[in-house]
Amino acid sequence: MAASGDPVARWLVGSPGDDVYATYERIRARGPVVDSKAGVLAVTSHELCQTVLRDSRFGVRPADGSPVRNDPALPDVPGSLTGSFLELDPPDHTRLRRVAAPAFRPAVVRTWTPRIEAVLHHLMDEAEHRARHGADVDLMVEVAAPFPIAVVSEMLGIPDVDAARFARIGALAGQSLDGVRSPRQARALRAVGDELDTLFTRLLDERSREPRDDVISALASARDRDEATAADVVGIAGLLLIAGFETTVNLIGNGIAALHASPQTWYDLVHAPATAQAVVEETLRWDPSVQGTARVAHEQLELAGRSVPAGSTVLVLTAAANRDPLVYRDPFIFDPGRTGEVEHLTFSTGIHYCLGAPLARLEGEVAFRLLAERWSQLRLVPTTRRRPGATIRGYSHLPARL
Ligand code: HEM
Repeated sequence: MAASGDPVARWLVGSPGDDVYATYERIRARGPVVDSKAGVLAVTSHELCQTVLRDSRFGVRPADGSPVRNDPALPDVPGSLTGSFLELDPPDHTRLRRVAAPAFRPAVVRTWTPRIEAVLHHLMDEAEHRARHGADVDLMVEVAAPFPIAVVSEMLGIPDVDAARFARIGALAGQSLDGVRSPRQARALRAVGDELDTLFTRLLDERSREPRDDVISALASARDRDEATAADVVGIAGLLLIAGFETTVNLIGNGIAALHASPQTWYDLVHAPATAQAVVEETLRWDPSVQGTARVAHEQLELAGRSVPAGSTVLVLTAAANRDPLVYRDPFIFDPGRTGEVEHLTFSTGIHYCLGAPLARLEGEVAFRLLAERWSQLRLVPTTRRRPGATIRGYSHLPARL
């Protein structure tokens, strides 16, 4: 289908060599609501993406509440990877989001700033130490990946995290957002899902007996007060862990690459590290780590004059919406100096708006600020490598000289 010139099918393949932004323009050129032979509809405009994400006639599951499955022949994936409220419609979504929300309020997240800075300084110290012996630093492997993993693990209260192992789990879970496509992939997901289920069940029981000031303790207490079942809280913990790193890892990597592709923006940041927040927002708009999401029509409805049958899946290509020429001036230019434009849709909108947005923004701000302050001479070595996948976009390797 992808080879037959169907640009939506092409996007779904997620080939690392593709220029996805050119693919979005081919989809955009076909009209506001585009049919694909892959059996989905796709929208690319900021207005329509927003409409679909905010319209309660769309859900993340079919109207009967059955889970979205890629292939009934493939084995189920355990609760820590699939049982979260991201994959539930109201009223269950509303009830469970409420359990997780307090820990991610902006005011609570801000109290983490010194700790987040300390985590990154430590990783940068270690990378500098290695670079002293003449080695290149792989910014993905040594900085961008372990940083959010360490932060979110600490917030959750997971001890002794093996960052390399968690990075592999995150990459696997990120790929599964494009659909589970083979029994081998399903088996690998099942194994890590079982591992996380066991880890969270043990930690929840420990924190139930001896609460601490961490998110797992809050989830254990919600379970003990019957606000959520044991399976619900394992699902929430899994979501927070996975959503908390894969996305932010690639925000940092994509931002570094964007800054180095437009050197003036890097010089500007080095001269004014306090503008790091603007770099975060522009990276989220221009080269987002999450490129899109999907919704299922719960009833027959109209979208931009086109009839959408109940049960249709609509791909909401938020990364294309972020370059909508009706909304953004010079949308293809990476320009952290933009002002007065509407917010990008990278954190989604409506009831599933990213719960971790304040944390992701803070981690991104700390990362770009400290990189500019400490490594102003940073140069990427031109052997960067993109990872495969459509929904999550990022690099597997970003070698650099400090
Ligand atoms: C750059 C970083 C991030 C990006 C781009 C991102 C993106 C998103 C998007 C697009 C959604 C909604 C998907 C949809 O509408 O179908 C979402 C939901 C969510 N995100 Fe994030 N996220 C990021 C970081 C984080 C972090 C750091 C956390 C927490 C530790 C987090 C936790 C969540 C949760 C819990 C949801 C589910 C919200 C709901 O269903 O109500 N995210 N995120």
